[in-house]
Amino acid sequence: MMDKVYLNGEFIAADQAKISVFDRGFLFADSVYEVVPYYQGKSFQMELHLRRLQQSLAAINIRAEHNWRKITDRLVELNGGGDLSVYLQVTRGVGNRRSQAIDTNMLPTVFACTHSIENSYSANVDSVAGIKVIVCEDLRWRRCDIKSNSLLPNILVMEQARLQGAQEALLQRDDTMLEGASSNLLIVENGKLIAPDSEHAILAGTTSSLVRDLAAANGIQYRQQSISYSRLLAADEVWISSSTRGLLPVLQIDQYLVGTGIKGQLWRRMYQLLAVQQQSLFEN
Ligand code: PDD
Repeated sequence: MMDKVYLNGEFIAADQAKISVFDRGFLFADSVYEVVPYYQGKSFQMELHLRRLQQSLAAINIRAEHNWRKITDRLVELNGGGDLSVYLQVTRGVGNRRSQAIDTNMLPTVFACTHSIENSYSANVDSVAGIKVIVCEDLRWRRCDIKSNSLLPNILVMEQARLQGAQEALLQRDDTMLEGASSNLLIVENGKLIAPDSEHAILAGTTSSLVRDLAAANGIQYRQQSISYSRLLAADEVWISSSTRGLLPVLQIDQYLVGTGIKGQLWRRMYQLLAVQQQSLFEN
């Protein structure tokens, strides 16, 4: 059965969904998006995703008010529930010609689809595979706090990662480590968690924000500080976090092993704390 997608008020078969060639999302990537995980048909951290969507829309001055949760819940239901991620994109709408100037009467285009995902926290902690990452120069713009669809720099570094047998590219700007191409970065030094402190240069991740809250609730020290490449390489543990991949231990950075190249103790603990948090979704 063909997956259903949502487009401008309708739930339709994916191959029936069409947008105009003058849609500004298509022409200019004049649009923002969110990716929300659902486990067994239930959304995880929905409030944080919706708040970030509102912030992204406000930051680029798109006025779109919808019952987002109703749209994504219904779409997940139509696609059979289970473990799915919802991709939700809002573009500024369809212009009548290819002009960069904004016509304020345009109606935003709203599109959503689902993808099946692995339940990031269902695996036994021993069976989660660590990953290899490469470090690349960050060629993105200076407002990476906005979840914009201008993803060409991310796509290019991910291709570099793939060619080098790595699963993520970490982005570096002026010797400051920022985040992954589609994930946040966290490091561990002497039992303390350190996250990058760059306000507009990274996305405020929903997963890393949960990690921060769980650290606070469990007596684990958490700081936001500047992380250089040499500090990254010297860290005891390095993690990446995202809604679709959960929390993954990084075991190799470029040609260097992280610590002794095995999954760290604090990662094991945090992974289990996240798994408990996620399980609480199903308890009522
Ligand atoms: N990406 N940083 C970037 C650049 C991202 O694209 C993402 C998420 C994150 C992590 O945010 P969160 O924990 O809220 O998922 C950080 C999504 C999953 C994506 O683009 O598919």
